[in-house]
Amino acid sequence: MKITKAVIPAAGLGTRMLPVARAVPKEVLPIVDRPAISYLVEEAVAGGIRDVLIITGRNKTAMEDYFDYSPEYEEKLLAAGREEEVERIHRIAESANVFFLRQHEARGLGHAILKAKPFTGDEPFAVLYGDDIIVSETPVCRQLTDAYEEYGLPVAGIKEVPEELVVKYCTMGMTPLSGNRYRIYDMIEKPKPEQIMTNYSILGRVLLTPEIYEILSVTPLGACGELQLTDAMQTLCRKSGMTGVDFEGTRYDMGSKLGFLKANVEQGVRHPEIGEEFASYLKEFVKTLQ
Ligand code: UTP
Repeated sequence: MKITKAVIPAAGLGTRMLPVARAVPKEVLPIVDRPAISYLVEEAVAGGIRDVLIITGRNKTAMEDYFDYSPEYEEKLLAAGREEEVERIHRIAESANVFFLRQHEARGLGHAILKAKPFTGDEPFAVLYGDDIIVSETPVCRQLTDAYEEYGLPVAGIKEVPEELVVKYCTMGMTPLSGNRYRIYDMIEKPKPEQIMTNYSILGRVLLTPEIYEILSVTPLGACGELQLTDAMQTLCRKSGMTGVDFEGTRYDMGSKLGFLKANVEQGVRHPEIGEEFASYLKEFVKTLQ
């Protein structure tokens, strides 16, 4: 079955990004001149997806505005002969069917995903975590849908991470399939050191089947008193397995201050307009750090 739907959970409070998160949702923090959420929708579209549901919350309307026309800007830009920029605004607004739904209360990633049930119906769907930006040759969404088409099981985008991060993220129990693909038979959210199976964690992308809703509805609250998606995926793994894809791409955690800065520095030097100038500035600045 072709995957045409994606869900972007973006209703979290973003406490690691306080104090700015009180005023600006982390999902619209910029990477140079585009908000994080824009990268996610573009990745989904490049991966063949047309319908995107963004799970949102209070004080996050900036996301909706970004995917709308902007008559005030357009008038000014047209008067200044900047037609391409108006076209760009329209392209962003029309690139996908973007839907929004409120989570009402940030009760965990699993709880956010449960909200997507009326949108996804009985179709499999991609999930792009709202604060995980991944820049890659082949959109990670596509890397996951290819694995789904081949193995017919739900898929997790995984990467090896340092041990100090495994205990904060999750650990995978898995065996190799072929190339960068694995069969995941178990996973544990925020494992204790003695529970670590491998240093592979899920980083920001999964592809789920509707079965997840049933499991989520009977999954008890987990770490931090929240309904954890990983706990539900653990049930799925133990029951029928998932495919793990050690994806190609550079991931930025926009939910952390360091990740936000890395994204801006690395994508800043690649930016077509200011990249060269920024790189020259950086080289000089780095000398002052010695
Ligand atoms: P995180 O756990 O990184 O988000 O969830 P958080 O809770 O906002 O982060 P901190 O720990 O307080 O800094 C990953 C993604 O899931 C969304 C977040 O918006 C983020 O994009 N999320 C999380 C929801 O949509 N709802 C939730 O209840 C929790």
